[in-house]
Amino acid sequence: MNAMTKQIGENLKSSFTVLLSRSIKSMTAVLFLSVLSAGSLAGVGEGQELYNAYCQICHGVLGEGQAMGKPLTDSPANRLADQELIDVITEGRAGTGMVAWEGSLSEVEIFDIASYIRNLQGKPALILGDDDSGPSDDPNVIAGEMLFNGSAECATCHSYDDKGGSVGPSLDGVSSRLADDALLQALMNPSASIVSGFGTKEVEQEDGTVIRGRFRNDSELAVQIQSADGRRWVTYFKERVTQVRDSDESVMPDTFANLGANEQQQVLAFLRSL
Ligand code: HEC
Ligand code: HEC
Repeated sequence: MNAMTKQIGENLKSSFTVLLSRSIKSMTAVLFLSVLSAGSLAGVGEGQELYNAYCQICHGVLGEGQAMGKPLTDSPANRLADQELIDVITEGRAGTGMVAWEGSLSEVEIFDIASYIRNLQGKPALILGDDDSGPSDDPNVIAGEMLFNGSAECATCHSYDDKGGSVGPSLDGVSSRLADDALLQALMNPSASIVSGFGTKEVEQEDGTVIRGRFRNDSELAVQIQSADGRRWVTYFKERVTQVRDSDESVMPDTFANLGANEQQQVLAFLRSL
């Protein structure tokens, strides 16, 4: 593979990755695969050549496994996250026939092979950088993510990419779940429609204090309310409290409504990238 093909591959790939991280969630895998087979993603073809040259001998032509190497199309290999897949190829598995390929293969080549393995697994291609820092190049998205995890305190209740709180629903894929107006309403007026499973109850205790929170297991005897930090479910026995009542107010505070217009745009841009 000459330097020029490589460069073209890289350019294609970086524009693709940006495009992907913005729109993969609204694209179906089928659509994506048909894009692949149209040959727009040069990397996968190269990945196939490299795979056949270096990996096939132990992992089989179609990743089905051979005497010297494990299958790549079954679990656990098809459960590896994108970064784990890249890491195992890069670093190998100490003490096994799987050597580290960094040094013999460039990062781009490893990315291409990993993409091809995803192809063999029948999965959408890799999206790198979707975790942690999410190197989106849109400054609004970056600023919005910082607000979300920082001063706007959304992350105390909401998670994405498996990070964050559990008082509110996970926001992975929220951009495809909610149209723009529904998303805006969920943010500006949380109580207008409450996500099922995230309703609120109030427990008035004998000393007059009132506990509000997401509930579950409302039985004849007791109700369980999630603690404000989301970590525990606290049981209140009905005979020991003054009253348990439904609340039609969301647990979600109006933090979003109180942000400045600029910050709202940033948080919105970030949510739309999820
Ligand atoms: C000499 C044989 C050999 C070659 C060549 C080889 N592998 Fe492996 N590979 C293995 C073995 C053995 C394992 C299982 C290691 C273990 O037990 O965890 C493995 C594990 C893996 C895994 C993790 C699978 C899992 O179940 O977690 C991946 C991914 C992988 N190899 C990809 C590759 C790629 C890509 C190449 C080519 C660049 C390659 N391998 C070349 C032998 C090989
Ligand atoms: C105290 C916890 C809490 C905080 C802080 C919080 N939320 Fe929520 N959020 C919830 C709960 C609970 C729900 C589900 C109930 C509802 O629909 O109002 C929810 C619902 C949502 C929804 C609708 C999700 C869906 O699937 O329909 C979005 C979007 C959302 N929150 C975004 C945010 C953003 C952005 C912030 C920060 C500005 C934030 N939330 C802060 C608790 C919280």
